[in-house]
Amino acid sequence: MSVPVDKLCHQDRFYTDANGWSVVKEGKAEILFPSEKDVFYNPVQEFNRDLTIAVIKEHSKDILAKRGVLEPQIGVPSEDGISILEALAASGLRSVRFAREIPGLKNVITNDWSKAAVESIHRNVEHNKVANIITPSNDDASMVMYRHKGHKTRLDVIDLDPYGSPSPFLDAALQSVADGGLLCVTATDMAVLCGNSPETCYTKYGAVSLKSKSCHEAALRIVLQCLESHANRYGRYIQPLLSLSIDFYARVFVRVNSGQAQCKESTSKLGYVFQCTGCEALAFQRLGQVAPHDNGKNKKYSLVTGPPVGRSCEHCASSFHMGGPIWLDPLHDVQFVAQLLQSIQDSEFATEDRMKGMLTMVLEELQDVPLYYELPRLSNIVKLSLEKLTVYTSAILNAGYKFSLSHANKSGIKTTAPLSFLWDIMRLQGQKNPKGQLGNLSEASPGYKIMSKAPTSEISFEAHPDANPKSREESLKRFQINPEANWGPKARSKTSLIPEKSEKQVSNQGTRRQYLRQMRNERKHREFTANKDPSSKKLKCDNLAGEPPQDSDS
Ligand SMILES: C[S@@+](CC[C@H](N)C(=O)[O-])C[C@H]1O[C@@H](n2cnc3c(N)ncnc32)[C@H](O)[C@@H]1O
Ligand SMILES: [Zn+2]
Repeated sequence: MSVPVDKLCHQDRFYTDANGWSVVKEGKAEILFPSEKDVFYNPVQEFNRDLTIAVIKEHSKDILAKRGVLEPQIGVPSEDGISILEALAASGLRSVRFAREIPGLKNVITNDWSKAAVESIHRNVEHNKVANIITPSNDDASMVMYRHKGHKTRLDVIDLDPYGSPSPFLDAALQSVADGGLLCVTATDMAVLCGNSPETCYTKYGAVSLKSKSCHEAALRIVLQCLESHANRYGRYIQPLLSLSIDFYARVFVRVNSGQAQCKESTSKLGYVFQCTGCEALAFQRLGQVAPHDNGKNKKYSLVTGPPVGRSCEHCASSFHMGGPIWLDPLHDVQFVAQLLQSIQDSEFATEDRMKGMLTMVLEELQDVPLYYELPRLSNIVKLSLEKLTVYTSAILNAGYKFSLSHANKSGIKTTAPLSFLWDIMRLQGQKNPKGQLGNLSEASPGYKIMSKAPTSEISFEAHPDANPKSREESLKRFQINPEANWGPKARSKTSLIPEKSEKQVSNQGTRRQYLRQMRNERKHREFTANKDPSSKKLKCDNLAGEPPQDSDS
């Protein structure tokens, strides 16, 4: 389905050239479309592309310095420069932007299996005068990667930006990215990753997903777990640099290295999640543990004991669901993210405000606390009205615990405080209730069991100076209001520029049915989240990179 130009966001970016092509500008690239009615441009993904360019530039700095490329140029290929593969390129917009915005490149292979997409790539390479850097390729993405898996031919950067799950491409990608190289991976099948189909999640990612308030971060951790497992097969391991849950998709940037010894540490980075079916309490069980050896040189690996929970929840006596395994180590490399944030020049990217807001928030996140709770949800379980955020965060800080918000969920709160402490806050809050701590809770409910207990923690609600995190206090842009009607993962043609004939060819390759199924699932997921998140019902073009107004202090 095409979108007439006058119905699109960012109309100032479109013009019709002398030959009748519709042209759209993004970053330093211009992309040609056959006619106004065939404009298949997805502005929502601009943030993904901006971020990727910034990450590749930052990642490349050390590599170029080590290779003696001291003054890398944009648009001038360098023999010792960075090699990039965009394995699923559609129109080539992303690759053209790489070529025109990233210094010190050796070459960019811009691949798509659709002939029509590759015709468009050729056209855009010529129009943007980047034929000296970009090599268009018309092949299956995995085949291109397998041809580069030899040590001398591995690629410095591989970008995987599929519709849906990246899982079919991971075996090849984890073999063909260079040591110290960068793998950038998008997953748009959030419904699967967020627990709508745990069985499908297992078949794709080797992990069982759970429906939970922290499912967006859990999705990132499932993808990372999957990358690690593919890497381990080849004596390799990943180092997450930045892992983001953005709008309707997950995007992770990981460095890949080789080392049998480091691979042995994987079991201690991965683990199962136990989630209470009543109060949603979370507990984690790592698959292994590693500690320094007594000799001070080596490491000692051992099995863990468990499980971390009993048969019934200590808070509400309900049973547990088990999900995973997921990645339990940090999602980001904070040093890398700090440098990345520093590196973003003013006015360099159209989505600059959101990039800075999100990266600032990532730096605030508690790196050693996997997942989070939603205060509105916890309050709802015990049927209390929600207080200002700073009431809870002051109590947490006053008791000597830490907390942070999460980039993945507007209401998410990570904390080193045990859940029993959060329940105690609510018990004290409940005592102010005219009907007492139990309020109107029904006896059979998990909330009743929780509120039946007396609080045991010492709690001070005195306002704490750090109770409001910087990103929130300064109202930095972190989340996006739906930018246009029918936003979300686009139909293939929206981003791939594939005319009708090729659509048919592609459907003959047996992917269309899968694709439609996935679109249906993703639509269901969007409806599911929209029902719970009032901001996602607002459809406003002007707020493309905007954030819902900070509603008072809650
Ligand atoms: C989401 S689009 C890519 C968007 C692009 N990266 C961008 O930023 O504009 C996914 C593309 O993957 C292509 N594709 C799907 N399966 C493929 C495969 N096995 N090999 C190569 N290309 C494939 C589709 O034709 C489609 O053009
Ligand atoms: Zn419970």
